[in-house]
Amino acid sequence: MMFKITQQTQADSQVIEALMTEAFGPKRYDRSVWALRPGAPVAALCLVGYDGDQAVGSLRFWEVMLNDEIILLLGPLAVQPHVRGKGFGRQLVQEGMRLARLGRWRLVLVSGEPDYYPKFGFVPAVGYGLDWPGFVEPERLQFCELVPGALASLPSSGLVVRGITPPA
Ligand SMILES: CC(C)(COP(=O)(O)OP(=O)(O)OC[C@H]1O[C@@H](n2cnc3c(N)ncnc32)[C@H](O)[C@@H]1OP(=O)(O)O)[C@@H](O)C(=O)NCCC(=O)NCCS
Repeated sequence: MMFKITQQTQADSQVIEALMTEAFGPKRYDRSVWALRPGAPVAALCLVGYDGDQAVGSLRFWEVMLNDEIILLLGPLAVQPHVRGKGFGRQLVQEGMRLARLGRWRLVLVSGEPDYYPKFGFVPAVGYGLDWPGFVEPERLQFCELVPGALASLPSSGLVVRGITPPA
């Protein structure tokens, strides 16, 4: 099956909203991770996956502050139920991470399935005692280095992640 990944455009917004409601439910904005996304996502990393002419997958990233460093927060990621299990999600993550490596960021953080992200190089963040804005199952938090050594350079305590509020 033909799967093509493109950068998101304005025309994709509605179909992505529908995809997100399908994947995460109407209460998705109540999840603590949304406190980290007060502004807009990183446009260059907003990807849409097309199966033919149908948008069936979406991946976005936001910038967040990890102490005084700007890092990336991966997600949300969603693939339409009828085409799951065909590798579309994997291709979206691989392309997103490839593009992320072209930027200046050193780290990516995700709150996601503990079993899904290790194959992309993510490791558990639980040992870092990350201060997260609200409730999250600690095993969902995972880091991936974009620059080798980035994790080793983090402090062993006092690590805080916060959203970046856009200027008024
Ligand atoms: C998670 C999701 C994006 C995966 O998309 P997908 O296109 O079905 O994923 P892929 O086909 O690329 O799957 C890749 C691999 O991950 C596995 N996988 C899929 N969903 C998984 C999950 N929830 N947990 C663990 N592994 C999972 C697949 O078995 C596959 O394994 P393999 O490569 O060893 O064969 C999709 O199931 C979805 O939209 N789910 C609902 C929303 C969601 O939970 N999103 C974010 C997860 S944090």
